[in-house]
Amino acid sequence: MDAQFLHLGIGLLVLLAAQHAPAVLIPSPECQTQCGDVEIQYPFGIGDNCSWSPGFNISCQVQEDNVHKPFIGDVELLNISLIHSTIRVLNHISTYCYDPSSGLMETSQWMLNASSSPYRFSDVDNKFTVIGCNTLAYIMDSDRTGYQSGCVSTCNNQSDLVDGSCSGMGCCQTAIPKGMGYYNVSFDGGFNTSNIWRFSRCSYAVLMEAEAFNFSTTYINTTKFNDTNIGQAPVVIDWAIRDETSCEVAKRNQTGTYACLSSKSECLVSLNGPGYLCNCSKGYEGNPYVPDGCHGVTVGFLVLVISALFGYMIIQKRKLNQVKQEYFREHGGMILFERMRSEKGLAFTVFSEAELTEATNNYDKSRIIGKGGHGTVYKGIVKGNMSVAIKRCALIDERQKKEFGQEMLILSQINHKNIVKLVGCCLEVEVPMLVYEFIPNGTLFELIHGKNQALQISFSTLLRIAHEAAEGLNFLHSYASPPIIHGDVKTANILLDENYMAKVSDFGASMLAPSDKEQYVTMVQGTCGYLDPEYMQTCQLTDKSDVYSFGVILLEVLTGQEPLKLDGPETKRSLSSNFLIAMKENNLDPILPSHIKGQESNELIRGLAQLAKQCLDMSGINRPSMKEIVDELGRLRKLSLHPWVQLDVEMDTQNLLDGASTASFQIEGATTGYSTQESENLPMNPRSSYYAR
Ligand SMILES: *[C@@H]1O[C@H](CO)[C@@H](O)[C@H](O)[C@H]1NC(C)=O
Ligand SMILES: *[C@@H]1O[C@H](CO)[C@@H](O)[C@H](O)[C@H]1NC(C)=O
Ligand SMILES: *[C@@H]1O[C@H](CO)[C@@H](O)[C@H](O)[C@H]1NC(C)=O
Ligand SMILES: *[C@@H]1O[C@H](CO)[C@@H](O)[C@H](O)[C@H]1NC(C)=O
Ligand SMILES: *[C@@H]1O[C@H](CO)[C@@H](O)[C@H](O)[C@H]1NC(C)=O
Ligand SMILES: *[C@@H]1O[C@H](CO)[C@@H](O)[C@H](O)[C@H]1NC(C)=O
Ligand SMILES: *[C@@H]1O[C@H](CO)[C@@H](O)[C@H](O)[C@H]1NC(C)=O
Ligand SMILES: *[C@@H]1O[C@H](CO)[C@@H](O)[C@H](O)[C@H]1NC(C)=O
Ligand SMILES: *[C@@H]1O[C@H](CO)[C@@H](O)[C@H](O)[C@H]1NC(C)=O
Ligand SMILES: *[C@@H]1O[C@H](CO)[C@@H](O)[C@H](O)[C@H]1NC(C)=O
Ligand SMILES: *[C@@H]1O[C@H](CO)[C@@H](O)[C@H](O)[C@H]1NC(C)=O
Ligand SMILES: *[C@@H]1O[C@H](CO)[C@@H](O)[C@H](O)[C@H]1NC(C)=O
Repeated sequence: MDAQFLHLGIGLLVLLAAQHAPAVLIPSPECQTQCGDVEIQYPFGIGDNCSWSPGFNISCQVQEDNVHKPFIGDVELLNISLIHSTIRVLNHISTYCYDPSSGLMETSQWMLNASSSPYRFSDVDNKFTVIGCNTLAYIMDSDRTGYQSGCVSTCNNQSDLVDGSCSGMGCCQTAIPKGMGYYNVSFDGGFNTSNIWRFSRCSYAVLMEAEAFNFSTTYINTTKFNDTNIGQAPVVIDWAIRDETSCEVAKRNQTGTYACLSSKSECLVSLNGPGYLCNCSKGYEGNPYVPDGCHGVTVGFLVLVISALFGYMIIQKRKLNQVKQEYFREHGGMILFERMRSEKGLAFTVFSEAELTEATNNYDKSRIIGKGGHGTVYKGIVKGNMSVAIKRCALIDERQKKEFGQEMLILSQINHKNIVKLVGCCLEVEVPMLVYEFIPNGTLFELIHGKNQALQISFSTLLRIAHEAAEGLNFLHSYASPPIIHGDVKTANILLDENYMAKVSDFGASMLAPSDKEQYVTMVQGTCGYLDPEYMQTCQLTDKSDVYSFGVILLEVLTGQEPLKLDGPETKRSLSSNFLIAMKENNLDPILPSHIKGQESNELIRGLAQLAKQCLDMSGINRPSMKEIVDELGRLRKLSLHPWVQLDVEMDTQNLLDGASTASFQIEGATTGYSTQESENLPMNPRSSYYAR
């Protein structure tokens, strides 16, 4: 006869069987929300009036060592998940062992009764698990489903046992049906360990979370499986609001028992047992069971991204070696970093990749507004109505991944009227993306070389645009030390706003170019026709590389020709070499268009040509700085406006250059009969030829 020690596991909530409609649905703020390590969220609650219904009443018990643990009935609660509508609890392991002193089998058989409560065993997450070398264990639900099943486990040969494999050799698992709220375990007396007890004395059976189980061969010949959780194993239990069977009925019931109280929540039918559950609506998260419990995810997400940026930068900062730290401090990186942290209203946005995908209609071809060596530029709309140009970069290397955030920070601070504003970036740097303000009126390239001959632009306007572009570049070069190098200066990168004011774009692209020299060979910076020849040899971009490229822009302004003529004879293809040859022969005539020759003063043309020649010097150190170019262009523009004015006469230069209606200019205007407004922005007007006469 077997000695049976039968444990009647106490039903989860035997005492709380009465159906009870809660009068107060909102948990008081005084309700305890934490017990030990477990967060207790409504509809669960601790004590009177804190839970949705008695079934969700949790008792927080003090164990030895003053540790608090939550219990439902007499079952220890491990976790509550509102999203999955599950809890994890500890469930007793039933055992069946041979006692060599008495020669009998001893058993300890458990049951779990949650029938009268909102709980059902999860059929998805649990498996009835049996361990032993000669055992047959039964699982039964006499209560609701009438389910009955068993699992046999044997070991023909001990060496057949394999860690991690539960397939009938030392270990057996079987699934359970939906709807079970009760189960009990019994062992078949025909299978016992009386003959193998020296090797394997005990068999075990329990309904448990499948993911928490990984068979180990030591479970056969030791008590390790029973000892891991002190005779217990985790089991996953589905819960639901069982008061009503469907969402519709629950919503219709006017007595105030509908549990989905948050405004941004929705009702779902329970998949295990009758009743319903609540979820936050898409885009929201939190607790749908309390009023205003669901919050928009995006705000939290943005905060997360920004703190991730800071976190990222802090980590990167730590990683910087001594030299880099020195460099970083020297160049104002720390100051900017601090500023970014302190300036809450910074107009720089870290976009998510998804946002930009949406803004560009998934990078639709029709949105492409430019293509270049560094990537593709798309037009997009962000934040509802803001037009932006989104640059999707082609390549990035490891170093730049690390420094991307810092560089964006620096670039985002650049604020100059002749530089396109960087409004944000995408930090998911696998596909680095820069977001610029959108500049509507085309490029200087289109203005000079465009097909639209009707839109003849006056030479003084071109000169002004070049001057403004130079100011933008000068600002970039002087903004930080070492200078921010544009790296791809060309007329196509000088954008024009509604007022035909120049805006230098695409700066910062150079920062995203590969840094190691091998890659340079395959990915040359810059654009043919504008390339600094010195850079081709040294692979080192400098501010003087930008100056060289700017020299080519001056040539385009002066000659109206493109930097490279691919259809011409080979020797005549390059505008800069044609120009330098012409300069050497001291005869610019062949390359100047007739309207320039006819209308502009010799001094202006000579001055511009001389400036361009200096910019195109083979050796970077001989080229002027951007600052010097700005000054010289300013001087030449004065010539263009007032060829007779003595240059040493003191004038309000800025007003003149801006073409604003200033007093000094209006006096001139009065004498010539042309208004100041006409001098700017308009198609070729006869003023310059008048002056040149
Ligand atoms: C489980 O508990 C419910 C409610 O207390 C009870 O009616 C039922 O008989 C119990 N089931 C078993 C098998 O003990
Ligand atoms: C909740 O559980 C505690 C402890 O088990 C008990 O004292 C209390 O009466 C229960 N409250 C309700 C409303 O069932
Ligand atoms: C729970 O609510 C009932 C009804 O509102 C009230 O009578 C009772 O005092 C409350 N209990 C506690 C502990 O606040
Ligand atoms: C569940 O609780 C255990 C400790 O009780 C913890 O280690 C685990 O991370 C929790 N899981 C979830 C999903 O909260
Ligand atoms: C398990 O349930 C079945 C059916 O109700 C019953 O016959 C059996 O005695 C139970 N076993 C134990 C150990 O309670
Ligand atoms: C168990 O298997 C091993 C090798 O697979 C074999 O050498 C041994 O004889 C087997 N023992 C029994 C009892 O079958
Ligand atoms: C189970 O344990 C074995 C070793 O004990 C390990 O190799 C295997 O990855 C584990 N499997 C899982 C799913 O954890
Ligand atoms: C073990 O099972 C065998 C039959 O399989 C039986 O003869 C024997 O009495 C059982 N031993 C115990 C201790 O129950
Ligand atoms: C249990 O059996 C394994 C082989 O299956 C063996 O490696 C291990 O030493 C044994 N442990 C004990 C305590 O006997
Ligand atoms: C299993 O563990 C429990 C709790 O530690 C203990 O009371 C019981 O005796 C153990 N059973 C076996 C067979 O080791
Ligand atoms: C409304 O809810 C109360 C409490 O749960 C219940 O007693 C009543 O039958 C429900 N009414 C309807 C129409 O379902
Ligand atoms: C420039 O902008 C104006 C309006 O701001 C527009 O009418 C004009 O067509 C634009 N020109 C070009 C070349 O885009």
